[in-house]
Amino acid sequence: MSSSVTPMLAAFTTQQKFGFAVVVILTLGWAAYIVTHLKKEGTPPPGAEMELAPNRKPYFDDDALEGHRLDRALLGGLVLMVIVAVGLPLYWAREPSRQEGAVRGFANRAAGRGLVLFQPSGSPIPEGNIGHFGCGGCHGTEGQGGTTNFVMPDPLDATKPPRIVKWAVPALNTVLLRYSPEEVTKILVYGRANTPMPAWGVKGGGPMNDQQIEDLVAYLQSIQLDPAEVRKASLAEFGTDGAKLFDGFCSRCHTLGWSIGEPGTPGGGAFGPNLRNGETVSQFPDKKTHVAFITEGAEYAKPYGLRGVGGDEGGGMPGFGKMLTKEQIEAIVEYERQL
Ligand code: HEC
Ligand code: HEC
Repeated sequence: MSSSVTPMLAAFTTQQKFGFAVVVILTLGWAAYIVTHLKKEGTPPPGAEMELAPNRKPYFDDDALEGHRLDRALLGGLVLMVIVAVGLPLYWAREPSRQEGAVRGFANRAAGRGLVLFQPSGSPIPEGNIGHFGCGGCHGTEGQGGTTNFVMPDPLDATKPPRIVKWAVPALNTVLLRYSPEEVTKILVYGRANTPMPAWGVKGGGPMNDQQIEDLVAYLQSIQLDPAEVRKASLAEFGTDGAKLFDGFCSRCHTLGWSIGEPGTPGGGAFGPNLRNGETVSQFPDKKTHVAFITEGAEYAKPYGLRGVGGDEGGGMPGFGKMLTKEQIEAIVEYERQL
């Protein structure tokens, strides 16, 4: 029996256990009272032994009432008042950090559940969790990115047999530096069509409810790298070489075939639009607004440039202001404008 009760007890908080103990004691007390006061056959009714009804009994006189009894009652009142006077401010002083702790604890528990959902399928499932959805199998167990095999149909001719390609999978330990939590939520719900990234939310036709999606976003939030470290690393790897930076950060969406190792014309357009032949220059005649756009990214249904509008509710053009330095973004813009 203890084997099934112990984990159940462990699931309750201290306050809940305390509450249960109070309820149990009160219930036992009432039961004892009722049992001892049950009318027994032949016993006289309560009060029958008294000669005088209780309300007619002579009470203490004034001397007794105003003597040490009064002092005791006043002292008791004083003690209780001191408890309130000291306890309330203490409680008040502790309250902000208690609330912060509650929020942090809530996020930590959500991230913990998200971690389990994130793990590659086949890894052990801790008790109380329903299982893995295998994100880590493609995105790396720590969200560091990787590759995955993808059965790709011919986009032009559906009758041709599909082929198996290796698709580059983006890192997720920086995804919230380029997308907002709402955008990441939408990407998870709807996936990204024509790539190995499936739709996970029920609304997108996937298996996950809103709670699970939220837990995954909480987990992703917990593994985000420090933006300053990310910028340092990208500076060390790519310097301020516009072409290299474009290949490292932009091509996967703007160059057809880049993700499967068969890149076409750089910036020729794929998930993101064509950027060549003056397309970007006519969208952003002014270099400053161009730099600002790459820094901030696009927001769904919000205009940008001269006639651009953010078109993908599930995260279109990301913002790179936290992942790249200002000089790097300017170098990319220089490179883009001459494509
Ligand atoms: C079968 C492999 C696969 C699995 C499983 C998978 N993903 Fe993806 N995911 C991808 C690929 C590939 C992309 C990039 C698609 C592209 O090229 O635009 C992607 C893109 C994303 C993006 C957008 C990142 C960006 O910067 O564009 C997020 C967020 C994401 N995945 C989260 C998840 C989460 C969370 C899970 C688990 C519920 C998951 N993925 C499971 C392959 C996968
Ligand atoms: C995750 C995919 C993705 C990545 C990575 C990405 N973009 Fe985009 N980009 C888009 C999408 C999608 C749009 C279209 C606007 C929208 O729907 O948000 C876009 C729009 C643009 C536009 C506006 C084009 C026009 O004519 O309207 C420019 C310029 C641009 N991207 C440059 C870049 C640069 C530079 C990088 C790398 C630093 C980059 N993009 C990385 C997806 C991406």
